[in-house]
Amino acid sequence: MRIIEANDYKDMSRKAANIISAQVIMKPDSVLGLATGSTPIGLYEQLVEWYKKGDLDFSKISTVNLDEYKGLDRENDQSYYYFMHDHLFNHVNIRPECTNVPNGMEPDAEKECRRYEALIDSLGGADLQLLGLGHNGHIGFNEPAPVFEKMTHCVDLTESTIEANKRFFASADEVPKQAYTMGIGTIMKAKKILVVVSGEDKAEIVAKAFSGDVTPEVPASILQMHQDVTVVADKAALSKLS
Ligand code: F6R
Repeated sequence: MRIIEANDYKDMSRKAANIISAQVIMKPDSVLGLATGSTPIGLYEQLVEWYKKGDLDFSKISTVNLDEYKGLDRENDQSYYYFMHDHLFNHVNIRPECTNVPNGMEPDAEKECRRYEALIDSLGGADLQLLGLGHNGHIGFNEPAPVFEKMTHCVDLTESTIEANKRFFASADEVPKQAYTMGIGTIMKAKKILVVVSGEDKAEIVAKAFSGDVTPEVPASILQMHQDVTVVADKAALSKLS
């Protein structure tokens, strides 16, 4: 595991965007595994800026996103489909048919999870998977659990997640109760993994996940077992890592 220290959020975003750019330049037909959340927003902005300058070409790139809320349609501005278009896909020359996000509107969970896992396999897996880190060590929607869930699956969101998300929706009833997510095995199949982390509020979980025991109670700790992981984190996030 390679740990790269950045000065602050902006520096983290530029360093991470540089790593993704290098991947796109070195292998123009790469499969990029992508994440949503607040942490990658700055790096997507940076990629868009470099694309607009003519430094990047996404025309042969394919993407697979980590997760999506079940029951939210694509037009909903809280869907991860919407997020990805808003922050990246609408601003670069990626082909829409080469972008993939789990289909939150497929009611048959087993069918959708099987389809998505097979799709990732048919693309040969992600060349580079981008991840954020949850405060409890979650990656994708893989929450702390007694065992690592391997494949793409449907998760019941915890009460605290539903509560935290309530503010983004018109009423509590509209908050999704489930989500589709790549499994830990799906993530671990990626050839390279890039984790971005920012802020002092993540310092404790960074220390636990990257220098503590490997346990499904801290899902990100499994990344210690992957042969090519780069963590780009700012000083604040690294402040408790010994
Ligand atoms: C996003 C995702 C989540 C986030 C994590 C961190 O697709 O799967 O695991 O990466 O919740 O979120 P932020 O970056 O908002 O702290």
